[in-house]
Amino acid sequence: MVYLLKMKNNFWKKLERPIYALAPMAGVADSAFRQICKSFGADVLYSEMASVTALVYAPEKTLEMLEFSKVERPYVAQLFGSDPKHFAHATKLITKKLKPDGIDINFGCPVKKVQKQGAGAVLMNDLKLSKKIIKSVIDNTNLPVSIKTRTKVGKVNILKFLDNVRDLDIKAVMIHGRTLNQGFTGEVDFRIIKKAKDYFKGVILANGGVNSAEDAKELLKKIEADGIGIARGTLGKPWIFNEIKEYKSPQPPLNKGGANKCRNAKFCVCTKKEIFEIALKHAKLVEKLKGAAGIREMRKHLCWYAQGLPNARKLRQELVKVENLKDIRKALK
Ligand SMILES: Cc1cc2nc3c(=O)[nH]c(=O)nc-3n(C[C@H](O)[C@H](O)[C@H](O)COP(=O)(O)O)c2cc1C
Repeated sequence: MVYLLKMKNNFWKKLERPIYALAPMAGVADSAFRQICKSFGADVLYSEMASVTALVYAPEKTLEMLEFSKVERPYVAQLFGSDPKHFAHATKLITKKLKPDGIDINFGCPVKKVQKQGAGAVLMNDLKLSKKIIKSVIDNTNLPVSIKTRTKVGKVNILKFLDNVRDLDIKAVMIHGRTLNQGFTGEVDFRIIKKAKDYFKGVILANGGVNSAEDAKELLKKIEADGIGIARGTLGKPWIFNEIKEYKSPQPPLNKGGANKCRNAKFCVCTKKEIFEIALKHAKLVEKLKGAAGIREMRKHLCWYAQGLPNARKLRQELVKVENLKDIRKALK
């Protein structure tokens, strides 16, 4: 019965290939930003990572952080932690209370505070515990379970990691093509992501370094993955999903804010006016969902929207001080 439910709920199978996912980003990819990315064609949206321990001891705030709107479906809630029992509890809770479309486990976070808890990327180096955690999530939900990893942590590379969990019903893996030691910079190892296909039969999403439609197409050509996860490439540029999907040929550099010289202007967001309209739409959503605190929180998004525009520095000086929609409108004028 559980097996049948799992089959029924596996949204990954139904998605058109290639899949373009908004990768998880703590402090950035909240419901408002996810909705904006969805409006530009993101196929799957990952939540910010949520602590399973917090979901055990003081769940309210974390559950609130994981909330989503139905327009965000398919929506994947990402969990991090190191205790299989906490994972089991958190999985049951969010399956019942939030009903996302999938649950993802974080094996990629390099943040020191997370590493100290034995969670995130360092887990990859402990094959036994990693397996126990994945199993505890799978056993406690009827939702498809996915994992997000790095290419290597300590002595364990992604191939060994996937081989170790071959017998588990993992539906998808997003592989950040860098080792833990690399953090967020340096070359992305696409060859090992390609090899991962021999070790994992589910959906493989490649992640790392995709900042343009050209990057995405190049990457897909090289690795023949099922899709791509994009994180920083969406910052101040959530329309990247649309650009990728409609991409036909190499483009001249985007002339943000200036005359619209982009050959693919139909689907690109090229002008300052268009960018400001999106920033304002995003801000309105944030205000609706999070109130004034949300506006302060989204100042970083506003600065990312301003990147590359004429007088960006001056504009950013205004944007880092905004308190409400009125301030934003004034700054963008
Ligand atoms: C601000 C920020 C927050 C992130 N938060 C998460 C997270 O919560 N969970 C996770 O698995 N990865 C997280 N990541 C990693 C990204 O999902 C992604 O793997 C990494 O940035 C590489 O992809 P990119 O080159 O497209 O940015 C975060 C990255 C950034 C920049």
